[in-house]
Amino acid sequence: MNVTDRVAVVTGVTSGVGEATAKALRREGCAVVLVARREDRLERIANEIDDGETLVVPTDVTDEDEVTATVEETMEEFGRIDILVHNAGVLRPDPVTDADRADFRKQDQVNLRGVTNTTHAALPAVLASDGGDVVAVSSMNARRNVRESRRRPVSLSTVEREHVLPAPLKGRIKDAQTRIPTNYLAAV
Ligand SMILES: NC(=O)c1ccc[n+]([C@@H]2O[C@H](COP(=O)([O-])OP(=O)(O)OC[C@H]3O[C@@H](n4cnc5c(N)ncnc54)[C@H](OP(=O)(O)O)[C@@H]3O)[C@@H](O)[C@H]2O)c1
Repeated sequence: MNVTDRVAVVTGVTSGVGEATAKALRREGCAVVLVARREDRLERIANEIDDGETLVVPTDVTDEDEVTATVEETMEEFGRIDILVHNAGVLRPDPVTDADRADFRKQDQVNLRGVTNTTHAALPAVLASDGGDVVAVSSMNARRNVRESRRRPVSLSTVEREHVLPAPLKGRIKDAQTRIPTNYLAAV
């Protein structure tokens, strides 16, 4: 994937995979929109990159209005979105039977609704890009086959995010030549 001189929106950049991804994209010459809830951490990371080609937008991906405002702010600042990285996620290792239902709900909100909210808001811009990319950070846990999952305690930690994108949306993305590599970042 060529990222130089492109514009990426990356969710969940205040630690871990998201922070590393945002910094790696910026090193390769990609403008990066830094999205997560903790503003102090967002500012710290922007300062570490420190070259004006980042935009800090504190956002809770479970909040539709906040996500819409983030996309609008991105379009005002950069005029386009070429890459959308769904990385924000809640990782819980508990077996389902041990899980607190409130935690379960919270995980659904972030890992599922966060992806649909962000896709809905940003996809028109990505489709308008010349060869946009939608990257969904997933997990090997989400790819284990059903038989194996039955034998193991089922992990609540991950969601196969590719399945979150409904079929008509996938069709539009395919028509527009937009790529959706799930687990792309984990694979490289
Ligand atoms: N690390 C692993 O071994 C592993 C394994 C499999 C899959 N994954 C997946 O890879 C992704 C990154 O994992 P990680 O270990 O780097 O996670 P992490 O260090 O816990 O970071 C999670 C990020 O998501 C953000 N986030 C959480 N809830 C959010 C919300 N409501 N709105 C916006 N941002 C939110 C957090 O920022 P704020 O708290 O500032 O909002 C943080 O930046 C996750 O989707 C995870 O499920 C990770």
